[in-house]
Amino acid sequence: MSVILEIKNIDKHFGGIHVANHVSISVKKGEMSAIIGPNGAGKTTFFNLITGFIPSDDGTVIYEDQDITSEKPEKIVKLGMVRAFQVSSLFLEETVFDNVYLAALSNFRKNAKIFADRMAFKDAREHAGFILDKIGLSHCKDLKASELSHGDTKILDIAIALTLNPKILLLDEPTAGMAPDERIKMMHLLKELHEYFQLTTIFIEHDMDIVFGIAEIIRVLVQGQLIAEGPPDYIRQHETVIEAYLGKEVL
Ligand SMILES: Nc1ncnc2c1ncn2[C@@H]1O[C@H](COP(=O)(O)OP(=O)(O)O)[C@@H](O)[C@H]1O
Ligand SMILES: [Mg+2]
Repeated sequence: MSVILEIKNIDKHFGGIHVANHVSISVKKGEMSAIIGPNGAGKTTFFNLITGFIPSDDGTVIYEDQDITSEKPEKIVKLGMVRAFQVSSLFLEETVFDNVYLAALSNFRKNAKIFADRMAFKDAREHAGFILDKIGLSHCKDLKASELSHGDTKILDIAIALTLNPKILLLDEPTAGMAPDERIKMMHLLKELHEYFQLTTIFIEHDMDIVFGIAEIIRVLVQGQLIAEGPPDYIRQHETVIEAYLGKEVL
């Protein structure tokens, strides 16, 4: 597998806190990976650094052989590195379908100037319908977004991210606040979408059943430092990781 994302020596301080400590990561195309670590370890900040939301103090981000270190978030999204739960603000009084349709339409209009507007409307409707079907929300497409359960709202957020045609999908705690059955549903959905859309998926997650259930590679951040990375079996037995984060119960 070829490398799609190469992060070299990303460094960031917030005042006195070293929130990214020379982090280097190489992500292969098609990889399903998780980032784990204690609260305040710098996981969300890491996403912010690589997606252009906040500038790094040092280091480079290479995406598909292109240096995107200083690019703006909109440009990075356009290149195909897309974040769910950050790209969207849902229109709660609009229907589920219209939320996805409006996102698809705005994307079609931005990217395909050659299309006549009427064409964009039609394509966006079809694209929205297709994504809702793939994500399993077709049955509630006519509900208002505000009427969805917490779990389905998160799924709608992912649907909106998918309208942007991601190559890399970044998810920050996709199961946060969910009931156990919703978590399992989300885990299966992430795996299905990953395979169907041939994504490279990177998710931050606290639920170790999900992390060890679907991640091929797990990276552990503690106090801004990448202390370990590797497949689940390696991470599960890693002394420092057990001490710093996992505890004994995962053994
Ligand atoms: N914009 C910011 N300005 C200053 N400090 C920040 C900012 N964002 C996060 N932090 C601090 O950086 C550290 C890492 O935060 P964060 O990346 O949110 O951790 P995690 O997602 O792993 O829980 C925390 O100590 C947090 O308070
Ligand atoms: Mg966080």
